[in-house]
Amino acid sequence: MEPTARGASGSKAFFYQHLCEQLDQLLGEERDFIANAANTTALLYQVLPDINWVGFYVLEGRELVLGPFQGKPACARIALGKGVCGTAAVERKTIIVPDVTRFAGHIVCDTASQSEIVVPLLNWGKLIGVLDVDSASLNRFDEDDREGLESLASVFLASQTTDDLPDLSERAVKN
Ligand code: SME
Repeated sequence: MEPTARGASGSKAFFYQHLCEQLDQLLGEERDFIANAANTTALLYQVLPDINWVGFYVLEGRELVLGPFQGKPACARIALGKGVCGTAAVERKTIIVPDVTRFAGHIVCDTASQSEIVVPLLNWGKLIGVLDVDSASLNRFDEDDREGLESLASVFLASQTTDDLPDLSERAVKN
């Protein structure tokens, strides 16, 4: 399957709808968390315009641990409540940061990043991690991106059964 970039014509909503279908097709019957997270980031990195980083952080105990991603190397662990990722995780809601220099506590991984969106991954109400997307442009993400990325996160989560997902509560207890 050849991913398609957003053309000049066509709305953003349509673009994301099409991208959700592509992701659904790409993940197919595969259930492995890492394989599907890796392919999700590869697709998004290739197709989303004007982004410089996309990746998963997975909840382990009270920390988010770096998962599959595309872009420059990033910080491996983020405490819950810290940075944009840790804040989105605690608040369980998508956070759009139009200018990262104006977000108190923003964690710099790639100095080129200027704006960011973080979508929490909720599996039947249980937080399993976040999907983080960065851009080297200011104000890159809007409400259409929020809706689109939340839909893509749902497609990813739908590819997992509860058993396939990392057992976070167990890890929390052991840590
Ligand atoms: N900026 C994020 C850290 C992760 S990197 O952007 C990949 C944050 O503040 O949580």
